[in-house]
Formats: sequence, C-alpha cells, structure tokens
Amino acid sequence: MSDDTTGSLGDWPPGDLRAAGGALLDRLAAHFESLDTQRVRPEDLSEQRIAAPFRGRLPDRGTEFGELLERTWRDVVPGLTQWNHPGHHAYFSNSSSAVAMLGELFTAAFNVNVMVWESAPAAAAVERQTLDWLADLCGLDWPGADSVLVDGASLATCYALCAARDRLGGHNWREHGASGAPRLRVYCTDQTHSSVAKAAIALGIGTHNLVQLQADDGVLSPHRLLGAVLADKARGFTPLAVVANLGTTNVAAIDPIGEIAEVCRAEDVWLHVDAAYGGFWRIVPSVAEALPSLAAADSVVANPHKVLFCPMEASALFVRHPGALRETFSLVPEYLRTATGEDRLDHMNYSLQLGRQFRALKVWWVLQSFGREGLRSRLEHAVLLARSLAAKVDEHPRWRQAHHSLLPLVTMVYDDPALGADDGDRVAAEVHRLVNAEGSSAVSHTRYQGRYALRVSIGNIHTARRHVESLWDSIRRAEKTALEGAGHGRDDN
Ligand SMILES: Cc1ncc(COP(=O)(O)O)c(C=O)c1O
Repeated sequence: MSDDTTGSLGDWPPGDLRAAGGALLDRLAAHFESLDTQRVRPEDLSEQRIAAPFRGRLPDRGTEFGELLERTWRDVVPGLTQWNHPGHHAYFSNSSSAVAMLGELFTAAFNVNVMVWESAPAAAAVERQTLDWLADLCGLDWPGADSVLVDGASLATCYALCAARDRLGGHNWREHGASGAPRLRVYCTDQTHSSVAKAAIALGIGTHNLVQLQADDGVLSPHRLLGAVLADKARGFTPLAVVANLGTTNVAAIDPIGEIAEVCRAEDVWLHVDAAYGGFWRIVPSVAEALPSLAAADSVVANPHKVLFCPMEASALFVRHPGALRETFSLVPEYLRTATGEDRLDHMNYSLQLGRQFRALKVWWVLQSFGREGLRSRLEHAVLLARSLAAKVDEHPRWRQAHHSLLPLVTMVYDDPALGADDGDRVAAEVHRLVNAEGSSAVSHTRYQGRYALRVSIGNIHTARRHVESLWDSIRRAEKTALEGAGHGRDDN
C-alpha cells in the first residue's frame, strides 16, 4: 500500500488550497457586489423544487472543486434565504461581516478543539479575553464571573438554570437528580422565548412548573411576580429562577429588571436575563440611558450572532458567581486529565459540551476589526433607521406600532377603524405575504395582544436608508393590493 499523501491519498497540496480558496473568495465577492439586485428569498419555496437537485446516490469518484462550486451556485445559492441581504428584516436580522467570515475559515483551518487548556491554549485565552470584552459591552462588571461561549441562547439559558438549581440548598441535584427533589418553579411572562420552556423540559422541571405570567404591555410586572412567588412558597413549591427579558422576541420589550432583581433578592430566587437580542445595544448612548442595569442579575445571555455581525453560532453566557458553572459542569475522566490540573481555562468544565470549536476567534476579530467605536456607529445607524421607519408607521392613519421598543425592531398592526380586528389582521397577513413575494425585502410576523403584527428587524450590516425606504414603499403597495383584494380599496395610498 502506498503511503504517498501527495498523490491519490491525503489532502490537497497547499497550492490547490490557494487556488480553490481564491476561486471561492472571487465568487463570494461577486455575490456581495450583486446582493442588492438579488431576491431575499426564493420565489418558489416548495420543498419539491428546492430539494430536487440534491437527491441521488453518493458518487464513487471525487468531484473537482471547480465543479462543486458550479453546482453549489447553481443548486444551493438560489434556494437559500439570504440572511446577509440588506433587505432581510425577518426574525432578528443577524448578519455576518466579512472579517467574521474569514474568522470562520481560520477556525476550520486550524481545527483546534477548545476543551482543555492543553488542547488549545491560545484559543482558550482568546475566548476568555473575548468574553471579558463582551461582558463589558453588556455593561457587566462582574470580577471573576464564570462565562463561556456556546452555540446559542437556548442552551445558554438551560445551562444558567442548571447552575441555579445546583446553588439551591436542601437537595443535591448533582448526585441525586430528581429523586426526592422539591418541586421547582421558574417564572417568566407569556412573552418569554420558547427556549425557557425547552430548558424546563430538559432539566426535568416540567412545563407545568414554568409560570408564564401575563405581561403588561409586553413586560413582567414585579408586583405580579412577587404574588406568584409568595403563593407558590405557601403551597410548598420551591421558586428556582426568574427569567427576565432584555428584548423579547415578539416586540423587543424590556422587563423592569431593577425591580425584578429586588423581588429576586428578597425572595432568594435566581435572576437570569435573556438579553440574547438586547444585550449589546447598550453601546449606543441613546439606548443605554434608558436600559435597566444588569448588575443585580445572577446570569445573563447575549448573542454576538444576533447583533454583532458574527455568523451563526456564538452566544455568550455570563454567571455572576465565580465557579458556579464550573461546579455544575466539571467532570474530569482520566483521559482528559492534564498536567496543568484543574485549570480554570478548561472550557469543557463550563457547559455540557466537551469538543468545542474555536468560536471565539471570529468574535475576537470582529471586536478588534471594528473597535468599540465602529460597533457603536453601526448599531446606532440601525437604531436611527428603525426610528425613521417607526415615525412613518406613527404618521400613517391605519398602521400602528404594536409596541414602542428602544431597540431597532419595528412591529406593526393594521388598525383601520373601518375594519374590525379580524379583517385588519387579514390585511396585515396579506401584506406580509405580498412584501415577501415581491422579493427585495423579507419581514416576519408574530401575534401580540391578540393581533397579527409584522416584525421588521433592522440591524443587518449591509442595510442602508434606501433599503428601509424601499421596504416601506413595498408595504404601502402591498397594503393597497391587499385592500383591493378584500374589496376595501382606498384613495389615499
Ligand atoms: C429573546 C430570545 N431569546 C432566546 C433565543 C434563542 O436563541 P438561539 O437561537 O441563539 O438559541 C432567541 C432567538 O431568536 C430570542 O429571540
């Protein structure tokens, strides 16, 4: 058998990497040059059409990279939703900067596994520094806090609640699990992200023990919270944690975190803040002055992949109590023992994940490439664009904002006095469909206070004023068509 890894075995020679990498980067640059003229979403979203090119058996022989690129641009790219498109305003409009894309390439090229210090020493140090900078951007000054980068806020919240559970006195969850355990309760609002319910499922708390309090104008009432906690204590339940929001998914509402923290402190309940979307907007001064402090929280999650121009996946979890994550997740089998012993930079001890990619690198590059000032000006730009759209909604006789958020998510309900709520919702849903079908923008929707609300998230690194103006024009055109279609034509469109 040949041991020649430069012939039919082994990987490409470095020269081929250079050539193929150049070809890919050329394609990507051309893609970005023409992004404005492309559709945000495929016109035909049917699975039948989009999935058709990918059926068939795995080829026996290898395919030239040039051919792979051709096929990918022919079959994959037209079937993608373009999250990096300046007109992508659906969900939360996370986008990936050029420097972060290159960071992903670097990460894959070195392929280090950031599990213990020895397996990736400088990567572990970069992750620590990156987390400290991210904490600073969120306004957290928690010396010695535990923190870790994970794939998303859903798991971060699950880890935070797991750490909270281990801090409860009276039962050793780590060793005894649920046997003989008290009945735990977690509190949030009906606006809280579904990841909290998933965490309740995964941690054996159960969705019936997730107390979803009714929100007032999108936010948690500290008074209602206190009442629920006291009532549960009287019934013999054990309040574990409150999950408060800094930016709800529906309308980017912000809970009164300071007052909630007082309730948590008085009743000895862990406060986790879901700042997945809202955490980093604090670097915009006009937003910061109205944001509640997070200092009294026990844990906070904030997602660089939602706001800081980093590609999926990167979410930062901060836990104020030094050692809390480590005490929960530390478990070192013989084959992972190292000469450096119980080093605090063994990242495997901060979550359930053992093998971990070097996801800090792309975030570290983005933070330095833009600097605090570059990030601030980009985020501020998004906030100003959202305010200009919100002003148009406010001036319009029939659209109204579902909620006035400080953050650049504009939510719109169709409120025509001549139509009832149901007909108004039908118009809004049809506008949603028509705007997305037109192709130059994409928005998403939610139900808020019983009404169908369009969600327009602004924050994509490529979005300029003209894209937001073009979206508004598209909404107005769609409204006219929707009204005509429903037999309610109007003259003022
Ligand atoms: C407020 C909020 N929390 C949590 C999540 C879950 O985040 P991830 O997708 O990173 O798990 C989302 C997702 O959009 C969110 O909007």
